[in-house]
Amino acid sequence: MPLVKMKEILAHAEEHRYGVGAFSVASMEMIMGAVSAAEELRSPLILQIAEVRLKHSPLHLIGPAMVAAAKEAAVPVAVHFDHGLSEEKIHEALETGFSSVMYDGSHYSLNENIAQTKKMAALAREYGATIEAELGQVGGSEDGSVDLEVLLTGVKEAQAFTAATEIDALAVAIGNAHGVYNGEPRLRFDRLEEIHNEVDVPLVLHGGSGISEDGFRKSIGLGIRKINVATATFNQVVSTVNKNAPFTDYFSYHEQVTAAAAENVKRHMRMFKSDGRL
Ligand code: 13P
Repeated sequence: MPLVKMKEILAHAEEHRYGVGAFSVASMEMIMGAVSAAEELRSPLILQIAEVRLKHSPLHLIGPAMVAAAKEAAVPVAVHFDHGLSEEKIHEALETGFSSVMYDGSHYSLNENIAQTKKMAALAREYGATIEAELGQVGGSEDGSVDLEVLLTGVKEAQAFTAATEIDALAVAIGNAHGVYNGEPRLRFDRLEEIHNEVDVPLVLHGGSGISEDGFRKSIGLGIRKINVATATFNQVVSTVNKNAPFTDYFSYHEQVTAAAAENVKRHMRMFKSDGRL
C-alpha cells in the first residue's frame, strides 16, 4: 500500500463516518509500533511529528524513516507535519515526501492567519500534499512549554477562513487542549455542531490524550475526522518502560517501546472506530 495523501484518508472516514488517529512519533521504535498497530487492526493511519519536537527528533533523520515506513505498510498511511510554524521546515517536510502539512497561524489575527495559510496551502499544493490549518486557539502547547488559554473557534470566522484559504482540513478549538487536562475535558459540542453546519471540510481535534470514549464518539458524530494523539503515547511508553525496568539489555527495552506505542495506538483506533475499515 503506498504512502497516501491525508485528504484521501479523511474522505474515506467522511464517507463511512469514523475518525482517524494522527499519532505523534519521536523515534523509529514508535514509528514501527504505530504502523504495526494499524496493520493488525486494518486501520488507516496518520503518522505525524510537530515542528517543536524536531529538537529531539531532527526532521532530516526521522522524516525519511516515517516516509519509508508508510511506503511499505500494508495499510494506507499518510505522513503529516504537525503544527508547522516556519516556511523553511514545512518546505523541508514536503521535500522529504510528507503527504500532508499543517500550517499553524492560530496566534495571528484572522487576516494574517488567512494570508499566511494561503501561502503555505499554495506551497503544499505544488507537492500535491494535503493542507490543514487552525483557527481559534487550542489550549496548552504541543511540547508543554506554554500554557495557552483556549480561545474557541468562531463560526463565522471558520466559514470565512476555509472559503478564503481553500484548506483541506480545519483544526478547531472547542475546549480541547494539548497535554494533560486539568480534570475532565469540557468540550463545547454546541460550538462544534455550529461549525460543522457551516463549514464543508473535515474537522480536526487536537489534544486527543485524555478525552473519553464518549467525547470521541460525540465529536466524530459532529464532523471530527482526524484526532491528534501525542501525550498518551509518550506516557504509555514511559510508564511501560518504568514498570519493566531495570532492563538487562537494550533490545528488550527497544521492544517494550515499540509494543507500548502500539498498544496506545490500538486503544485509540478502537475508540475512533477506524479498526476493520480496510
Ligand atoms: P495531546 O498531546 O494532548 O494528545 O495532543 C496532541 C496534538 O494535538 C498534537 O498536535
